[in-house]
Amino acid sequence: MLKIGIIGCGFIGCHICRAIDNGAVDVELHALFDSSEIKALELVASLKRYSPAYMKIEELLYSVDLVIESASQDAVRSIVPQALEAGRDVMVLSVGALVDEELRTKLFKLAKQNNCKLYFPSGAVVGIDGINSASAAGISSITLTTIKPPSGLSGAPYIANMGIELEKIKKETVIFEGSASYAVKAFPANVNVAATISLAGIGFERTKVRVVADPTLARNVHEITVEGEFGKFFTRVENLPSPENPKTSYLAALSAVSTLRKILNPVKIGT
Ligand SMILES: NC(=O)c1ccc[n+]([C@@H]2O[C@H](COP(=O)([O-])OP(=O)(O)OC[C@H]3O[C@@H](n4cnc5c(N)ncnc54)[C@H](O)[C@@H]3O)[C@@H](O)[C@H]2O)c1
Repeated sequence: MLKIGIIGCGFIGCHICRAIDNGAVDVELHALFDSSEIKALELVASLKRYSPAYMKIEELLYSVDLVIESASQDAVRSIVPQALEAGRDVMVLSVGALVDEELRTKLFKLAKQNNCKLYFPSGAVVGIDGINSASAAGISSITLTTIKPPSGLSGAPYIANMGIELEKIKKETVIFEGSASYAVKAFPANVNVAATISLAGIGFERTKVRVVADPTLARNVHEITVEGEFGKFFTRVENLPSPENPKTSYLAALSAVSTLRKILNPVKIGT
């Protein structure tokens, strides 16, 4: 049975562990690591079927077949290269770290050299399957439009730098338009979504991002419009935040479990 090691026991890590523990995915939950040992041990205590060991990173990487990073961009930078060097397959949730071209090149090279797989689940967006298919021919444009209630944009560097008064926004307003590479610095909370789309499609420079504030909204909406040789498609997801971490959409945790099932299943449906 495939042995799994989870790095990061927050909302997504816990959700994956519970899905394995309740039999939704047929793998062995072998080891856990979190920079907060207490958090990891609380998770272990709450499980019914498995009792994964809390291990140091170096030990964990040599004890499992697949490492799941559900921690932070820092963890991607420090742990994922080690995991690939150890010959382990890795699923990365903090995909925003791959905005860094140097890191991206390094990880892809290590995966190739060590014959490992790097998995990036679709996360909080819908339509990565269509982008993958469209990539087999030419894609001329991809636009991500993120629509949030104004309060959901507070704290973004772009809002402070431009002196935007979010509380004065009374109707749907376009706040930002630019490349994904600029958008991830201006709106770091959008980084995972923009990164996954850019990696699947036409890269960080050519992917366009619009950020819209809408005071009538309660959910975080992501719309993707893709045009290419295949024609055109449009997707829209209205994400519910997870109860434990309002910054993370519930769909992101579900996409990690679904990716795990796809890895195991001999029948693979969808691109
Ligand atoms: N791909 C997507 O679409 C998508 C969507 C939502 C969240 N994410 C990303 O997935 C990651 C996990 O999200 P979450 O909601 O579970 O976060 P969370 O804050 O609930 O949990 C993260 C956990 O990782 C631990 N951690 C942080 N840095 C660590 C490190 N260097 N080593 C070990 N443990 C570390 C923290 O202590 C915490 O327990 C985040 O980076 C988040 O940005 C991706």
